[in-house]
Amino acid sequence: MRLHVVDHPLVAHKLSTLRDERTDSPTFRRLTDELVTLLAYEATRDVRTETVEITTPVAVTRGTRLSYPRPLVVPILRAGLGMLDGMTRLLPTAEVGFLGMVRNEETLEASTYATRMPDDLSGRQVYVLDPMLATGGTLVAAIRMLIDRGATDVTAVVLLASPEGVAVMERELAGQPVTVVTAAVDERLNEHGYIVPGLGDAGDRLYG
Ligand code: PRP
Repeated sequence: MRLHVVDHPLVAHKLSTLRDERTDSPTFRRLTDELVTLLAYEATRDVRTETVEITTPVAVTRGTRLSYPRPLVVPILRAGLGMLDGMTRLLPTAEVGFLGMVRNEETLEASTYATRMPDDLSGRQVYVLDPMLATGGTLVAAIRMLIDRGATDVTAVVLLASPEGVAVMERELAGQPVTVVTAAVDERLNEHGYIVPGLGDAGDRLYG
């Protein structure tokens, strides 16, 4: 597994405003959307492309376009839904699948309550969207499901990660073709499984 922390002043600025407890829901949604677009720019650096012939008003030249099969974008409901528009703005031809997962607040175990995506992901590039990588249980389960279906290249786009969650991903997905792109890795997880200093419960701040 590869970890990429996006180091950019605009990313840091937007993330800081997201962290602020005074940021209201409409502003939180807008900033999440903007931040995802910046992270998506980095996350799609290795998106597969092909060379095509283009005729400009002046000459014939060679250009680039996204190749087939199309990438698949998978937001993890509920909070990941707040990242979907920002991602598909940069990847308008992507197919979208959905995974509904929820973490038990007592045991911190993740369970899946909805799955809607192609059964066969052989050879596909997949982008998974979830704002928080906390214990890592949710993303590990989601990415295992994608790899079991044949995905050969999985990138998780997250707003914030904990060091504990990153370590779990590295251990559980060792040797797998997985990249995590995040705006920051915070200090730690607290006893309730929340990222510290974090930004609170992303699902609640987006939709609560
Ligand atoms: C949150 C968050 C991640 C998950 C992270 O979702 O959006 O999906 O917890 O935790 P983990 O890394 O410890 O597994 P939650 O279960 O609260 O569901 P929601 O998106 O519907 O709010």
